Amino acid sequence: MGLVGAGFISRMYFDTLKRIQDEVRLVRIADVDLARAVETGAAQGVPGGSVDELLADPEVDVVLNLTIPMAHAEVATRSLEAGKHVYGEKPLAVTVAEARSVLDLAQQRGLWVGCAPDTVLGTGIQTARRAVDDGMIGPPVAATATMAIPGHEAWHPNPDFYYAPGGGPLYDMGPYYLHALITLLGPVARVSASSSRPVTERVIASGPRAGERVPVLTDTHITGLLEHVDGAITTLTMSFDTVGTRTLPIEVHGVEGSLLVPDPNEFSGTTSLKRRGEDWVELPISAGYENSARGFGLLDFHRTPAGEAPRADAGIAFHALEIMESMMRSSVEGARLDLGATAGRSRPVPLTSI
Ligand SMILES: NC(=O)c1ccc[n+]([C@@H]2O[C@H](COP(=O)([O-])OP(=O)(O)OC[C@H]3O[C@@H](n4cnc5c(N)ncnc54)[C@H](O)[C@@H]3O)[C@@H](O)[C@H]2O)c1
Repeated sequence: MGLVGAGFISRMYFDTLKRIQDEVRLVRIADVDLARAVETGAAQGVPGGSVDELLADPEVDVVLNLTIPMAHAEVATRSLEAGKHVYGEKPLAVTVAEARSVLDLAQQRGLWVGCAPDTVLGTGIQTARRAVDDGMIGPPVAATATMAIPGHEAWHPNPDFYYAPGGGPLYDMGPYYLHALITLLGPVARVSASSSRPVTERVIASGPRAGERVPVLTDTHITGLLEHVDGAITTLTMSFDTVGTRTLPIEVHGVEGSLLVPDPNEFSGTTSLKRRGEDWVELPISAGYENSARGFGLLDFHRTPAGEAPRADAGIAFHALEIMESMMRSSVEGARLDLGATAGRSRPVPLTSI
């Protein structure tokens, strides 16, 4: 496996890769910033260099694409053209059209594309999914999903991409919530949304560029309604314009009960259930990869038996992107929009420790 994009999040992947090195072996690192690639490669004990060098290496069978969102489709396309499978960070691409051309190319070449977030494979969301699938809340009726923070310029030293097209709270954090909602309640048939951009500049708070202003080129507060194919209705709010909140990340309500679902940006966490006429109870962990972390989607790909679909397949990420793009369009056009393609849910993860 070769890693492209040795930035902030790569550190978390290096931690995971050390744990799973018997199954997924890092052989090379690349970055458009060559000095960074060489330095990171030296630290990880593998060669570091250009993307072309990485793609020419026959030992690289899969490319782990950790570049910024605007480069995701370009790096994925080049990787597929070089005959490599690709697993990338979210979002799959900045537009549905770009993502579709990546998936079409993969199909033509017989190669796999997978995409984060793989948090949904952990014990948190998988235990909640099992509760829904086992009928503990009865037929699902509604969900609320809320991510409300002040903005990533508070801690990220280079937050420009969060305020560019393909960034914003919806494209940045939405995938965690949408992958979880699709995992819990199935695909979405129709969306409507409103969005706003209360400030047009953000000030970087840390690192060498502290004090520098970043232009805001995308909406930073979005609320939408997602109508799931099976009838449940989700209210989704994603905001970089909120000073504080006490709202839970995800609640799911059914005819017979309600579930408090753990943070979908985490791999674990407690699911609580209240059934009609009973008190809240914490559910024991019953499903998912234990002690999982970023990169388990790639591990799952390596472990997938022939003939089965890897769970972190890009189909779900494509559907999430389609939902996000339609929400932004709905906000501009004031319309309630039908979605074309709808991904199925991936196979549940039985309780698994590695
Ligand atoms: N920062 C986080 O906490 C976090 C968490 C989860 C997921 N992610 C996702 O991970 C991805 C990367 O985020 P990050 O915070 O590490 O960003 P970053 O800016 O710190 O790092 C991105 C790296 O990619 C390199 N790069 C950019 N374009 C490239 C190209 N065309 N070819 C080769 N290299 C290229 C950059 O030089 C940089 O080293 C994003 O998609 C983001 O959504 C980030």
